Amino acid sequence: MQNLQNLFEGIQPVVYRDGRILFLDQTALPAETRWIEIDSAESCRDAIKRLVVRGAPAIGIAAAFGMLAASRAAAENGFEGYCAHMKKARDLLAASRPTAVNLFWALDRVEKKILACRDRPVGEIKALVEEEAVKIQKEDQEVCRAIGVHGQEIVKDGMTVLTHCNAGALATSRYGTALAPIYAAKERGFDVKVFVDETRPLLQGSRLTAYELLQSGVHVTVITDGMAASVMGKGWIDACIVGCDRMAANGDAANKIGTYGVALLAKAHHIPFYVACPLSTVDPATLEGKDIEIEERDPAEVTRFMGRPTAPAGVEAYNPAFDVTPHHLISGILTEKGLIRAPYAENLERLLSSSRFPGSPAPVMPRG
Ligand code: MRU
Repeated sequence: MQNLQNLFEGIQPVVYRDGRILFLDQTALPAETRWIEIDSAESCRDAIKRLVVRGAPAIGIAAAFGMLAASRAAAENGFEGYCAHMKKARDLLAASRPTAVNLFWALDRVEKKILACRDRPVGEIKALVEEEAVKIQKEDQEVCRAIGVHGQEIVKDGMTVLTHCNAGALATSRYGTALAPIYAAKERGFDVKVFVDETRPLLQGSRLTAYELLQSGVHVTVITDGMAASVMGKGWIDACIVGCDRMAANGDAANKIGTYGVALLAKAHHIPFYVACPLSTVDPATLEGKDIEIEERDPAEVTRFMGRPTAPAGVEAYNPAFDVTPHHLISGILTEKGLIRAPYAENLERLLSSSRFPGSPAPVMPRG
């Protein structure tokens, strides 16, 4: 049995080592492994915008380290000046990408920490900001691990799972959300296979999910997005598991563009469709999916591919980065506190108001 810890040596999107903040440049994967050093809120914002670091939890972690970079650069002559400097950094980072709520969740955590310490010397507050960034990353690891363990309710020996985009180690601190149950099943010695949609236009499925699953020894097959119906129709898929960028209070889930289509296909083929979603991705202030702001990206991502035009010059293109899957298409929501079923509004509220995590004992992997 492989040790989960060892599976991920080298697959970490954000690394904080010897005081250096490093992001694995996911735009270069799988061809090249290169790192980008973050030394300011601006460089962090640019990295998030360019998808050097991407995936909701990883964006939150990256933003927390962006705040740390800004904090280091701040002068130490008084709380008010420091606070104004950090507020500017926060606004800058908050404007990087609008959909993944983890970004705002992490920025809020760092900001709250700062405001709670207004009586302390700025030098001490800076140390606390560092501590908070490291804590956010570490907690995410535990959250993902717990999602993997609870995911054993879904992922059984011999199953084939279809996923869309990348909700794996590369999108989190480690293990992932949608991929965590796959890694946990692998750890138990289960034979689990994964079909991954390539995920146009930026190919997070084929470039990133296939990369990390292959590295971890999980059997993975890449398909184009348009093939999902066909493989479901052949009876090859037992369950779909996807990640989430923001979940509304009623369980509607925003995730990578194309996810809604996968959910509809799953429904048509009577295949269960699960959303893996840490509680940091649930936004109780957003009541329904239609209230979620969907990022629109450069249309050139649709009309060009690998630097070449794939559509006639001057043609219009539409490029929303995410879509919303209505809660009635979701068979279950997999969180670090367990798998919940409909009614989602009530069950999400119950989970959010209980405080088992962080600080609660981690769930234990079932035997057998
Ligand atoms: O545009 P991206 O690559 O940031 O989109 C990522 C996704 O849609 C993921 O599925 C989602 O963030 C969940 S990551 C655990």
